[in-house]
Amino acid sequence: MHRELVQISSELIKALDNAKHVVVFTGAGVSAESGVSTFRDALSGLWARFDPMQLATAEAFLADPELVWGWYEWRRQLLLGVVPNPAHLAIARLEQKLPKVTLITQNVDDLHERAGNTQALHLHGSIFAPRCFDCGRPHAFAGAPAMASEQKLEPPRCDMCDGMIRPGVVWFGESLPEHALNAAFAAAENCDCLLSVGTSGVVQPAAQIPSLASRAGATVVHINPDAVPVHRVNEYSVQGLAGEILPLLVQETQHA
Ligand code: OAD
Repeated sequence: MHRELVQISSELIKALDNAKHVVVFTGAGVSAESGVSTFRDALSGLWARFDPMQLATAEAFLADPELVWGWYEWRRQLLLGVVPNPAHLAIARLEQKLPKVTLITQNVDDLHERAGNTQALHLHGSIFAPRCFDCGRPHAFAGAPAMASEQKLEPPRCDMCDGMIRPGVVWFGESLPEHALNAAFAAAENCDCLLSVGTSGVVQPAAQIPSLASRAGATVVHINPDAVPVHRVNEYSVQGLAGEILPLLVQETQHA
């Protein structure tokens, strides 16, 4: 793993050192070392029987609101108990060290913000920003999740219209927040270097972001324990854990 990093590191470090605008694009793998299971990992307990892809839809919520709300509350509870890992901290450090960094994340957690990043484009919303399914009014969580263990849970009701409260995440079949998506595409097309970290790159339209950048001439680096197929000369795959590779990159970059 490290041999490959050494092999490409001088080009990669040069690309980072010369970049005026770096995009960091993250997926569930960046939170994995904090103890948050990725979407395609096997789940445990009650949730082992369910495919997350089939819980993350409006149809699933309407068919069984307690199941879907309970699943998101279980994830929210898990997130409240974990902390940013060295990958999040390294990305926050990049924002401080480099002239311009745009952070784009598919994650619905707040670990980038807790690590110190001042801005992140959340393409798939936030698990901490629920709203009414019917009228869209934001809902304020009252403290920690009510559940202590993995279980179905009835969603709260909207103060205004009594509609069911839903998680503030983007479900399959729903549109991404327009402002965040436009800003993300514009950043990808205008950056000099893009680090794509911990994403399987299969969920559209977010999955287009690395190729938009490489087509526009940016150096694109995929950081993932699995080899990521590369299609252009300005594209690299660095195999390894985000929490190991990113701190090395930050340490090596010459930016003050
Ligand atoms: P996935 O769960 O699809 O992929 C996680 C990726 O992280 C995989 O490629 C893993 O190999 C990689 N990985 C695991 N551990 C890692 C580590 N320590 N360091 C680096 N990489 C690691 O997650 P996403 O690509 O984020 O959408 O999934 C995209 C979207 O699909 C999610 O935002 C979510 C999901 O369904 C919605 O909720 C709409």
